[in-house]
Amino acid sequence: LKFIDRLVIVACGTSYYAGLVGEYLIEELAGIPVEVQFASEFKYRKEPFSRSTALLAISQSGETADTIAALKKVEDYGVLRLGVVNAVGSTIARLTDAGVYCHAGPEKAVASTKAFIAQVSVLAQIALSLSSPSNKLFKPLLQELNDLPAKAQQILDQSGTIQQVALKYKDYRDFLFIGRGYSFPTALEGALKLKEVSYIHAEGYAAGEMKHGPLAMIDENFPTFAIATGEPLFEKTVSNIQEIRARKGPVVALATEGKTSIEEFCDDIIYVPGVIEELQPILHGIVTQLFAYYIAVARGFDVDRPRNLA
Ligand code: BG6
Repeated sequence: LKFIDRLVIVACGTSYYAGLVGEYLIEELAGIPVEVQFASEFKYRKEPFSRSTALLAISQSGETADTIAALKKVEDYGVLRLGVVNAVGSTIARLTDAGVYCHAGPEKAVASTKAFIAQVSVLAQIALSLSSPSNKLFKPLLQELNDLPAKAQQILDQSGTIQQVALKYKDYRDFLFIGRGYSFPTALEGALKLKEVSYIHAEGYAAGEMKHGPLAMIDENFPTFAIATGEPLFEKTVSNIQEIRARKGPVVALATEGKTSIEEFCDDIIYVPGVIEELQPILHGIVTQLFAYYIAVARGFDVDRPRNLA
């Protein structure tokens, strides 16, 4: 990997969104240019692909047809094929030259949940391995990775609060999820999870991009789930929330404990423990998963076997 100058990540669904977090992490920590592609698009694209590019497939099941096809496409290119896979011994695990198993245990439901958390954790560790211990993020990230289980437990301990908020929003037809920076992929994943299990139309958007289209849809019947954490961009996300409120859009915010200044701008708030920006998707992913879960259960759906999905 020391000799590659570009990494292409291919994946589908939730694994694709974990890949987007991986892109941010690897670029920030290791300085290697990364691009993430839907496996279903990658397999048909006619892009230049040099030997100094490595391909990384991310998959929970290790059996997703498009991701397998993406790996097969580069079979004769002489490039390094890597995998981040959960299912041990799966097709993708066997097709790749090297890789890391997530070891999240069997994902029994169709919608990926714990695998997403594990994928992002593994990608953070890959990014750390590719960076240098002298990187200013190296020690804080390692420390925060160690602290994550306790913080994840804090979120699980307040699942009753998340359930109460979810119940207020279970009858809406549409939902917008917004976030910036590392919270942008989380917003996309949050929207996907809600769609998958509750059949509510949901769109994930970069908060700053919201005014270039989605804002037109906002009214009192179109709520927004705003991921409003992360110091560098907090104020900017708050200003997006204000734009939504000006159009009477209900807002649920995910905010850092202690950041009570956000209360005047939101209808409902789910507070989460503070964590380094780079690892926020892991904790915030748990919140968006629980939010989708409680809405789906309240609407009477089988969250483990969503219709139309395999
Ligand atoms: C879809 C599932 O069919 O496959 C998603 O509904 C999942 O939840 C996607 O993320 C990709 O699956 P995998 O196994 O390649 O990660």
